Amino acid sequence: MTTPVKPLMSKSDEVVRKHKEYLWPAVTNYYAKPLVTDRASMQWVWDLEGKKYLDFFGGILTIQVGHCNPKVTSKIKAQVERLQHTSTLYPNEAIVALAEKVAQITPGALQKSFFSNSGTEANEAALLLARMATGSYDVVALRHAYSGGSQLAKAVTAQAPWRKAGVISVGIAHAINPYCYRCPLGLKYPDCGVACANDVENLIQTGTSGHIAAFIAEPIQGVGGFITPPPEYFKIVFKIVKKYGGLFIADEVQTGFGRTGKKWFGIEQWEVTPDIITCAKGMANGSPVGATVTTTELADSFQGLTISTFGGNPVTSVAARATIEVIEEEKLLENCDVVGRYFRGKLEELQQKYPLIGDVRGMGLMQGLELVKDRQTKEPAAEATVQLMERARENGLLIGKGGLYGNVIRMSPMLNISKADVDEAVRMLDKSLGEVRV
Ligand SMILES: Cc1ncc(COP(=O)(O)O)c(C=O)c1O
Repeated sequence: MTTPVKPLMSKSDEVVRKHKEYLWPAVTNYYAKPLVTDRASMQWVWDLEGKKYLDFFGGILTIQVGHCNPKVTSKIKAQVERLQHTSTLYPNEAIVALAEKVAQITPGALQKSFFSNSGTEANEAALLLARMATGSYDVVALRHAYSGGSQLAKAVTAQAPWRKAGVISVGIAHAINPYCYRCPLGLKYPDCGVACANDVENLIQTGTSGHIAAFIAEPIQGVGGFITPPPEYFKIVFKIVKKYGGLFIADEVQTGFGRTGKKWFGIEQWEVTPDIITCAKGMANGSPVGATVTTTELADSFQGLTISTFGGNPVTSVAARATIEVIEEEKLLENCDVVGRYFRGKLEELQQKYPLIGDVRGMGLMQGLELVKDRQTKEPAAEATVQLMERARENGLLIGKGGLYGNVIRMSPMLNISKADVDEAVRMLDKSLGEVRV
């Protein structure tokens, strides 16, 4: 009898080989040996070899109500079989039903949506509209921001690795960001008087024409490493922005759709009603979507025409509406708040145990750990962050990474996670932290 010969390459190896051969290397994969995903269900993901993982990153804050949630996918399937695409030249029930729902959950008088396919496009549309509506060109953004991959979005983005190859930044000024753990002004909250917010006025006076089109910011900076401002920050900035004629754009691509708990949008946590909200990622639980939502008056000020061929596609619209309905029906804004606080408590316990964890921050089910070599010097522990990612993967937990220095662990499980899931994730995180060699 002959013993079966073990194949030289696993199925995953073969996928990775082809990935290297046919895809742009600039689009990097996580892990030294990339994880080849095969299938997923709610909070779980399986790789091609059948190993199961608890997903605490959700495809970068996109799986809002669970992978392949049947309440969403059943509606997608039905819509695909009924009407997949007609373009925006013809209205359909799905697009208006979504737009109506979005108008119900957005704050203030934000009533009108422009649908596209991504966060990048949503931000492009917002900035274009702001420039048309105000007649001004200058935009104020924040350092450490991430806004997307187009030329304009890269110009708003303020992290060197995402700004290579001649980004054209004309008309965009970057304010210092409210990064309390590494205060750019060397101050300490609350004694600082939130000086970073007041600095926006000086920036407008010195770095712009003095009349701005918009201020654009993420309520909690996502790719930047879940940088969470002090509660007063955006209220102060809002007043300044209005004084200089600008529109306030909240980039809710990561914070949107209940991610921060209790409220639909992150900016509501800071008690500011923006002029424009941009969304993508979690809005449709994994179907490609972008939305730029604003007031009737501002929407009317758009000059000329615009179109997004796939924007508001019936299938995507159905997916987004179903996602919002699951959040409503299952009271997930509440669940996110309760389970998010529980998760935060557990992470703070881990911080007590591991000096590597310099800062714990975020809100709701958007929680980050900033890893440092030394709590005094706060030297970023980028290598340990990579190790922790690898160890967590090995132990069955998927987590994300971010931050300008590559030293922030980002965690964003689906909003319908339970405390038991958190316990399981924290157990794996604890084990993984214990295995990091620093
Ligand atoms: C806050 C924020 N805005 C915009 C974008 C761009 O979105 P997309 O990748 O869908 O174009 C991202 C993506 O990570 C983001 O995090």
